[in-house]
Amino acid sequence: MHIAIVGSGYVGLVAGACFADMGHQVILVDNDQQKLAALNSGQVPIHEKFLPELLERHRGRSLTFSDDLRAAVEASAAVFIAVGTPPTEQGHADLSYVESVARIIPSAINGYKVVVEKSTVPVYTSEWIRKIILRNAAPPDSFDVASNPEFLREGTAVTDFLYPDRIVVGADNERCAAVLRTIYAPLTGGSYYKRPDAIPGPDQAQIPPPLIITSTKSAELIKHACNAFLAMKISFINAVASVCESVGANVQQVCQGIGTDSRIGPRFLNPGIGYGGSCFPKDLMAFRAVARECGYEFRLLDEVIRINEDQRQRFLRKVHNALWTLRGKRLGVLGLAFKGGTDDIRESPAVLLVQTLLQEGCKVAAYDPAAQERAKEVLNSSIEYASDAYEAARGADALLILTEWDEFASLDLDRLHRELKYSIVIDGRNLYDPDSMAAHGFTYYSVGRPAAMPESVPVEAVVPPRKASHS
Ligand code: UDX
Ligand code: UDX
Repeated sequence: MHIAIVGSGYVGLVAGACFADMGHQVILVDNDQQKLAALNSGQVPIHEKFLPELLERHRGRSLTFSDDLRAAVEASAAVFIAVGTPPTEQGHADLSYVESVARIIPSAINGYKVVVEKSTVPVYTSEWIRKIILRNAAPPDSFDVASNPEFLREGTAVTDFLYPDRIVVGADNERCAAVLRTIYAPLTGGSYYKRPDAIPGPDQAQIPPPLIITSTKSAELIKHACNAFLAMKISFINAVASVCESVGANVQQVCQGIGTDSRIGPRFLNPGIGYGGSCFPKDLMAFRAVARECGYEFRLLDEVIRINEDQRQRFLRKVHNALWTLRGKRLGVLGLAFKGGTDDIRESPAVLLVQTLLQEGCKVAAYDPAAQERAKEVLNSSIEYASDAYEAARGADALLILTEWDEFASLDLDRLHRELKYSIVIDGRNLYDPDSMAAHGFTYYSVGRPAAMPESVPVEAVVPPRKASHS
């Protein structure tokens, strides 16, 4: 199948590389000349496991890069729109990039085309895309608009794409659905997984994945509802963690107890410093906004967002409680990315926390295995960038763990202890066992679990009696 993908961001680039690996002929279109030059010269613009291998395999053969949208549409049976849909100031999804792509498509229609929404968009967007294409003189039977939401997570995007829990296709007629069925046949028919060169999948992958065909509107809603539900799960457990802190319970034990209920499940139940990234924050606001427009006040989402923001404030209070005053204190920070496994810092709670700590007069030395270059674009030289975790900890009054990178969970604790000026660790991601941290001589704070301290530290030095005033 000949496929055009418009937008070579996280979603478009990963989708393009994976479609090429599934045997399709893909043209990836972008209007950012720098990005195109980088892709053409063999660079891999994002940190994503297996993406370098896939680009190497298909670049210049079944995967080409272009700024010519018209030519790409002419050459393709399906056109996937994967341009950004950033939030407006009112929290709506800004669909102007989607519209500008839809306006160009009609002039390149030379046979039946399926235009596929891949970006996360509010319900009704497919109707608008259809109207815009018709308004620009495309014959009504020369195209259809489908919705094919993408559920990939950054860091595991390639395996999420190739080994999905399910593939959702929103199509309002069989002609249109058939095109998407053919595109995904290598996955749904299972042939991809039999290939010796297939990208290896996760242990519990569902092979072959089910294909769910819905109306376009339902598919648009599935994407928003899915992200909102996952964010709600995270805010729920963060709220439970706060109760645990108040009563001296352990949220990890609570999670084990509720996550083993198969109706709830253990995933997305990790408390922390709140969710971030390019999707959850923006999609929750957009879902709330579109629901309001359609006459439903989705107040539950207000609370999910509020708890998420509060979670950062609670973490700041922990830093205050551990260190008393902050001006002039030196903090080691582990993690700047919005989550482990990615170099993405969009809406990263780690970066937001660092910015607040700088405003409070702290000196910060941070280390992130992948996100440092991107963080420099936002934080400039306001912080020191360390070359590893131990350098970040060197001479620090406390160490803050802000991103759940695997490598942060297996540090040499004796070495860390030697590097820190005061052996205080404030862990926003619950990467360590409190008792073992205390046994290694640390005063250790985490989320939803009692603070732990070496026996020699008096309790009042760990939990000062007053609350920080900025809370
Ligand atoms: C995508 C989806 O667009 C978003 O809706 C979803 O919620 C998350 O994933 P992402 O892939 O992260 O976003 O977007 P981004 O990294 O911003 O990439 C968009 C690309 O589209 C950029 O390379 C940009 O240059 C390109 N673009 C944008 C165009 O080619 N044409 C345009 O008119 C606008
Ligand atoms: C999310 C969705 O999971 C994905 O399906 C969609 O396509 C895009 O948005 P992504 O933003 O890449 O993916 O990351 P995800 O793994 O969902 O994490 C989002 C945020 O939630 C991160 O900041 C992460 O640290 C946080 N998180 C996640 C938690 O705090 N606790 C958890 O248990 C899980």
